[in-house]
Parts: sequence; C-alpha cells; structure tokens
Amino acid sequence: MLLRKQVLCTVYVMVILGVLSLVPVQCRTSKFEQGLDYEAINCRKHSAVLTDFGGVGDGKTSNTNAFKSAIEHLSKFSSDGGAQLIVPAGKWLTGSFNLTSHFTLFLDKDAVILGSQDESEWPLVKILPSYGRGRDAPGGRRSALIYGTNLTDVVITGHNGTIDGQGPYWWTRFKKGQLKVTRPYMIEILYSDQIQISNLTLINSPSWFVHPIYSSNILVQGLTILAPVDSPNTDGIDPDSCSNMRIEDVYIVSGDDCIAVKSGWDEYGIAVGMPTEHLIIRRLTCISPDSAVIALGSEMSGGISDVRAEDITAIDSQSGVRIKTAPGRGAFVKDIFVKGMVAKTMKYVYWMSGAYNSHPDHKYDPKALPEIKNINYRDTVAENVTMAGQLAGIDGDPFTGICMSNVTIGLSKKPKKLQWNCTDIQGVTSNVSPQPCELLPSKGDEQGCPFPEDRLPVEDLKLKTCSLKTFYA
Ligand SMILES: *[C@@H]1O[C@H](CO)[C@@H](O)[C@H](O)[C@H]1NC(C)=O
Ligand SMILES: *[C@@H]1O[C@H](CO)[C@@H](O)[C@H](O)[C@H]1NC(C)=O
Ligand SMILES: *[C@@H]1O[C@H](CO)[C@@H](O)[C@H](O)[C@H]1NC(C)=O
Ligand SMILES: *[C@@H]1O[C@H](CO)[C@@H](O)[C@H](O)[C@H]1NC(C)=O
Ligand SMILES: *[C@@H]1O[C@H](CO)[C@@H](O)[C@H](O)[C@H]1NC(C)=O
Ligand SMILES: *[C@@H]1O[C@H](CO)[C@@H](O)[C@H](O)[C@H]1NC(C)=O
Ligand SMILES: *[C@@H]1O[C@H](CO)[C@@H](O)[C@H](O)[C@H]1NC(C)=O
Repeated sequence: MLLRKQVLCTVYVMVILGVLSLVPVQCRTSKFEQGLDYEAINCRKHSAVLTDFGGVGDGKTSNTNAFKSAIEHLSKFSSDGGAQLIVPAGKWLTGSFNLTSHFTLFLDKDAVILGSQDESEWPLVKILPSYGRGRDAPGGRRSALIYGTNLTDVVITGHNGTIDGQGPYWWTRFKKGQLKVTRPYMIEILYSDQIQISNLTLINSPSWFVHPIYSSNILVQGLTILAPVDSPNTDGIDPDSCSNMRIEDVYIVSGDDCIAVKSGWDEYGIAVGMPTEHLIIRRLTCISPDSAVIALGSEMSGGISDVRAEDITAIDSQSGVRIKTAPGRGAFVKDIFVKGMVAKTMKYVYWMSGAYNSHPDHKYDPKALPEIKNINYRDTVAENVTMAGQLAGIDGDPFTGICMSNVTIGLSKKPKKLQWNCTDIQGVTSNVSPQPCELLPSKGDEQGCPFPEDRLPVEDLKLKTCSLKTFYA
C-alpha cells in the first residue's frame, strides 16, 4: 500500500503542476485497495469525482443535482476522449439521473448509491413503444434510477461498489395498489450501442434491475444482484430487443426471473419488430424459488433467436430455461441452445407454456401465433426435482424441433406421478432420464443436441485496462 500511495502522490503532483495548478496540493490516500485499474471497453481522457459537484455521501442529503451537474459538465468531453465520474466511498442518496456518451460511471468498492424515496425525484418518462403501456399500470412510468437513451460507449462499473434501489418502499406501495404509474427500474439503457455494466453489487431494485432495450453490443459481467425471493417483479437482467449481448459471471437471487429475455408485448412488440438475438449467457448462478432461471418471454413479440446459454447453476428455482408465450404474441422463439446446467431443488427442470395469457389490452390479435422451434438442451444434471417437464405448446401451433440430450434428473421425496406432461410439442431426446413423454422419442444419438461452434463478435470484444490514478487526487 505504501508504495502505491507514493506512486499516486507523484502522479498527482505531476498532474497539478502540468494542468490544474490552482488546485491545492494535497495527497489523498487511496481507497482503491484492489488497485488503481479497471477493465473497460474504453478508457477516458477526463475525469471528476462526485464531491467536485457538491456531492455529500452521508446517506441523507440528495445528490440528484450533484450527479446531474457532474454528468452535464462531463458530457462536454464526449468528443474529446470521453470522461469518467468517480463515486467515492460513502452513501450517495439520489433520484434518477441520465447518462451521456463516451462516459464511465465508476463506483469505489465502498461506494453505495441509494435510490431516493421521494417520488418527485423520479421523473416520468415515455412509455416503451414495444409495450404500448407501462408494465405495472396502463399509465406512465418512472425513469430508471440510472437512465440513458440514444448513447454510444457507456460504462457503469466499479470495484464491486453497490447500487441499492431501496425497493421495499416501492414493493409495499405496489402490493397495496397505491402506485398509479409503473415502478422505476434500476438501470435502463435505450437506443444505445457499446454498453458495459460490470463488477457491481445491485440490491433491492424497485422492479427490474438491468434493462437494456433497443440496444446492441452489450457486456454485462461480474454482477451480484440480490433481492428478497418474495419481492415483486425484481427480474435480474432483461435483455429486451437487443442484439449482440454477453452476460457472464453473474450471481442473482430474485423474486422473479433471474434473466428474462424479451422483445415487446403483443401488437406493440409486433409493430416495433425488434428481436433479441445473438445473446450469450454463461456462468450464471440463480436462486429464484417462484420463477425461472432464464425466461424466454413472456413478452417476445419482436422475436427471440440465437440464444446460447452455458454453465448455468440453478439452486432452489421454479424452472430452468423456460419458454413463456401465448396466442397474440406473434413472432418467434427459435435457435435456442442450452449446454451444461447443474440444478438442485427445482419444481420443473423444463417448462414451456403456450398459454401465458397476459395481454397489454384487448386490441391484441388472437390469430398472431408465435413460432417456437429449434430449442436445444444438453448436459443437464438435476437433483431433488418435483417434475421433469411440463411442456405445453399451442393447439394448432405446436412447438417443434425440441431436443434434449444427456440429461439426468433425480427426483425429490414427493415427486409428481406424471413426470413429463407433453401437449402440442414435437422433438427428440437421447440419454434422458427419467424416460420422456411419447412426443419426445429417443433417437439414440450419441452426438447429442447441437450447440453452436462459431463465435459471436461480442465474444471477441477486447477490454482495455483503464487507470484511475491520473485523476484520483
Ligand atoms: C471484474 O473483476 C474481476 C475480478 O476482480 C476482474 O478479473 C475482471 O476483469 C473485472 N471485469 C471488468 C469488466 O472490470
Ligand atoms: C432523462 O432523459 C429523458 C429523455 O430525454 C427525459 O425524459 C428525462 O426527464 C431525463 N431525466 C432526468 C432525471 O433529467
Ligand atoms: C432516440 O433514437 C430513436 C430511434 O432512433 C428515436 O426515435 C428517438 O427520437 C431518439 N430520441 C432522442 C431523445 O434523441
Ligand atoms: C461483491 O460483493 C458481494 C456482496 O457483498 C459479494 O457477495 C460478492 O462476492 C462480491 N464479488 C466479488 C467479486 O468480490
Ligand atoms: C454429459 O453431461 C455432463 C455434465 O452434466 C458432461 O460432463 C459430459 O461430458 C456429458 N457427456 C457427453 C457425452 O456429452
Ligand atoms: C428438496 O426439495 C424440497 C422442496 O421440494 C425442499 O423442501 C427440500 O429442502 C429439498 N431437499 C434438499 C436436500 O435440498
Ligand atoms: C398437463 O398439461 C395440460 C395442458 O397444459 C394441463 O391442462 C394439465 O393440467 C396437465 N396435467 C398435469 C397432471 O400436470
């Protein structure tokens, strides 16, 4: 540490003499005990600390204006090497604020951003065109705590600093029906490209945690996401009408789906027509007793395709990689590949629901049938399972091309008598026990179900090592 401080001071003095000669020379000791570096898609030329803009980290003073003025100031550098805003150790209460392009929000390991409980600090934002209404209520919706629209090159990261949405305030009011508008999400990024959200702990979001929508080239890495298992709609990560996204090394405990892959709701999603595609999910650990580890849908009306999930650990979850859809949704869920799932204590290992009938309004077209095909699951070991598979397609619109291979399911002490309940589906299996339903005959193929061997561009994204030291003073 001593050596590191000396290095820091030297750099600081150089910066002072060279550029900021009016700033009093003073050597702050580093709080960055994990180092002065972090990994990002891009490093920044300019930087500032939240306290430079009047931030007070006492957990009581509102920092909404400090965040706003800091980011407004730093947005001037977006075409000059970009800028980063450091949130130092402390508790920083704030309402919603907006991000800018070529920008990094960096949280010290002991920094906690706290979501305000003053609703006037959460402005209303436009409803999402692919949903046609707010998700909780037909009216408007509140801005996410951290909101960004029409951006390029944004990083939200830290040495595992914390963002706490103070969700109980919202959950209580939601459950009592006291909210007239849709609850805020924790992080929402719209119409953007090149996004990184990494190495943070996110707790108690008012509703969904991480919601990228209409965006591309997204890296989500190293997140710990925690909400009580009975909290309403606290989905962990919701890729929504996004392409080229990689989610890895995430640990999620949630009251709803750990990851919910979406693309808009019924006629609104069909009209926008933006699929979620080329999505990689790997090294996910999920605890979600009442929901799915990964849900595909139920809002999938722009389509979902080319999802590759690997190395999934499910603990005490309701189901694994679940398909949720209904007549009215339209579009497709296709080319889904799951490889390597270890599950302990599950209600259903496999669950597909073709009658997930929740609709935005009565204007949906019941003839808009979703096409569900080429769904592949391989290499699963599960124990303490109540029922292996509840697989229901749609009458007249069967789910086709289902493949399961190398699956060993150990049952609980009180398993269901019927282990596989299959209707309106078609597919094949190999080396699956207990023995699947007649609609999934064994083909005795040692090759197993396919998993893509090509690489997606988002897998080859190179991270740069960025330094905090030149501005940390
Ligand atoms: C996150 O932290 C881990 C371990 O501390 C590190 O290896 C990884 O590079 C970090 N990722 C990013 C994107 O900063
Ligand atoms: C953020 O930007 C959106 C869209 O431009 C706007 O509606 C919203 O009020 C802004 N939020 C804040 C906190 O300024
Ligand atoms: C953001 O981009 C979308 C899609 O291109 C566009 O419809 C919208 O007007 C843009 N919003 C802003 C605030 O620029
Ligand atoms: C980040 O913090 C959370 C919550 O304290 C902890 O569970 C997790 O292990 C930490 N992650 C890393 C990489 O240190
Ligand atoms: C079957 O799955 C296990 C992991 O569950 C894996 O270790 C093994 O290699 C797989 N076998 C084949 C033939 O793919
Ligand atoms: C098995 O699952 C049941 C719920 O079905 C649960 O109550 C029990 O604790 C689990 N047992 C083990 C050993 O995890
Ligand atoms: C089997 O699936 C059908 C169709 O979804 C459903 O109506 C029925 O209740 C299920 N039976 C059992 C025993 O789960």
